[in-house]
Amino acid sequence: MPQEVMENAARAVVDFNNTGLSILEIGHRTPLFQAVMDEAMALVKELMKLGADQEVMFLHGGASTQFFQVPMNLLDEKATGAYLDCGIWGTKAIKEARIFGNVDVVASSKDRNYTYIPRGFKIPEDSAFFHYTSNNTIEGTEVHEIPQTNVPLVCDMSSDILSHEMDFTRFGLIYAGAQKNIGAAGVNLVIVNKNLLGKVSRKLPTMMDYRLHIENGSMLNTPPVFAVYVCMLTLRWLKQQGGVPALEKINEKKAALLYDTLDALPLFSPKVAKEDRSLMNVVWIMQDESIEKAFLTECKAAGMVGIKGHRTVGGFRASLYNALPMSSVETLTELMKDFSRRKG
Ligand SMILES: Cc1ncc(COP(=O)(O)O)c(C=O)c1O
Repeated sequence: MPQEVMENAARAVVDFNNTGLSILEIGHRTPLFQAVMDEAMALVKELMKLGADQEVMFLHGGASTQFFQVPMNLLDEKATGAYLDCGIWGTKAIKEARIFGNVDVVASSKDRNYTYIPRGFKIPEDSAFFHYTSNNTIEGTEVHEIPQTNVPLVCDMSSDILSHEMDFTRFGLIYAGAQKNIGAAGVNLVIVNKNLLGKVSRKLPTMMDYRLHIENGSMLNTPPVFAVYVCMLTLRWLKQQGGVPALEKINEKKAALLYDTLDALPLFSPKVAKEDRSLMNVVWIMQDESIEKAFLTECKAAGMVGIKGHRTVGGFRASLYNALPMSSVETLTELMKDFSRRKG
């Protein structure tokens, strides 16, 4: 999280906009909160340069809820959703989609432990949509080109949204848990082209129906007020930095420094195909486990936490989300070089 966002959020917990009230106690139907929601939605539209038909929602339940809410709204029982299987999160989305309709896994990189992004696959023209995960948070791969297809594109952008420029108007539906690049845990950003809605024959529970959330401005029930407020602050910060193009430049520099360092030091081995490397999540392994433990201990001693790989894959992972400054990557790479000199 950007430091100033955390400081502003902390101040608002005590006194929101000099009202004498806490952001934690203001009513969500007050003009005070309405202004927060309106600004957050407007900033999403502006920063992502969305089209007129693309509706913005802030919903509960995290990205995992979208794994089933998407097919519930877009996939009829007899229809087929095309899915790309290139990571653990995508696999979970596929499992949920099968509850609602047919799933065609058009390509998978499971054969090599999801260390690359499949290419050259065909998306059947009659698919209801094509779903993929743009950045595989755990495995450290990223889809760098938006797939070419006439089928509506549905994308889980939880871990790379707003990190680099993209033509967001090409997507039928985008979803992202807020906790990485947009704000704090507890809210989910969902953007949908309204022309895709209302086409499935099943009845939808009220809280699952995107159309009702849109009609009610994401206030069908009590929204996660504080989480939406933190998103608004983070989006404001992002705009002040120069928006997505400016963040992209910094993110590319951060990733280049880390990958160049890993490539130059034989002790460290990046795990994924070079052309599919993620700008956000850099994963690597080391020669042997005893060295891994020693490196982790030194990282901790130098104040670097959260560098251990996901529990399902092991190794190491450095997450370079928007708010992480270049200086943090410099500290890590200096430690890597120093460690290599001593242990290599
Ligand atoms: C790409 C991706 N999709 C989905 C999820 C699940 O998100 P949530 O915990 O908000 O349900 C994550 C979490 O890290 C993720 O990285």
